[in-house]
Amino acid sequence: MTRAIYPGSFDPITNGHTDIIERSAKMVDHLIIGVLTNNAKSPLFTIDERTDMIRKVTAHLENVTVEAFDGLLIDFAKKCEASIIIRGLRAVTDFEYELQMAQTNHVLSPSVDTVFLTTNLKYSYLSSSVVKEIAHFGGNVSEFVSPYIEDRIKEKLKGRA
Ligand code: COA
Repeated sequence: MTRAIYPGSFDPITNGHTDIIERSAKMVDHLIIGVLTNNAKSPLFTIDERTDMIRKVTAHLENVTVEAFDGLLIDFAKKCEASIIIRGLRAVTDFEYELQMAQTNHVLSPSVDTVFLTTNLKYSYLSSSVVKEIAHFGGNVSEFVSPYIEDRIKEKLKGRA
């Protein structure tokens, strides 16, 4: 049974993430989305909100589950008994950081490999921060996130106004 992890902050999940999730879910038996409690970032959504939103958006995918994690990614991979880490590459600028991470993780645990999927061209410019910034200034984010996520962002930003 092939088990893979797709890790990230997902603050919030965008259509670019969902594209990677749907494509990688077809390649493995079980895909675990690992949602990082990232202390280096100040997230708009709490860890529980982010995991809950991903569960809703991926509910149609039977072999996908969602779990929060902190600490080292490689420890989370071992805990999940996953042999693959999935990462999306949006542009050349992602490559250096991703290569360093993949190589370091491979040294820490040689039984775990990182597999890169190129992001769909129509999402290659996208990031969660861009989505939040557009929404913050009242712009339309319906091209970038699902209607459910769009509502959650609006609700959250209204609470902050
Ligand atoms: N579509 C749209 N946006 C995408 C995307 C895609 N396919 N792929 C990445 N992004 C965006 C994200 O939205 C995010 O945007 P933001 O910075 O505006 O929030 C950005 O790219 C990068 O985020 P993400 O992929 O979530 O990575 P991250 O840097 O938050 O976390 C981990 C990456 C979780 C893999 C890494 O931090 C980690 O492993 N942490 C654990 C600690 C550890 O093990 N460290 C040692 C590593 S060697």
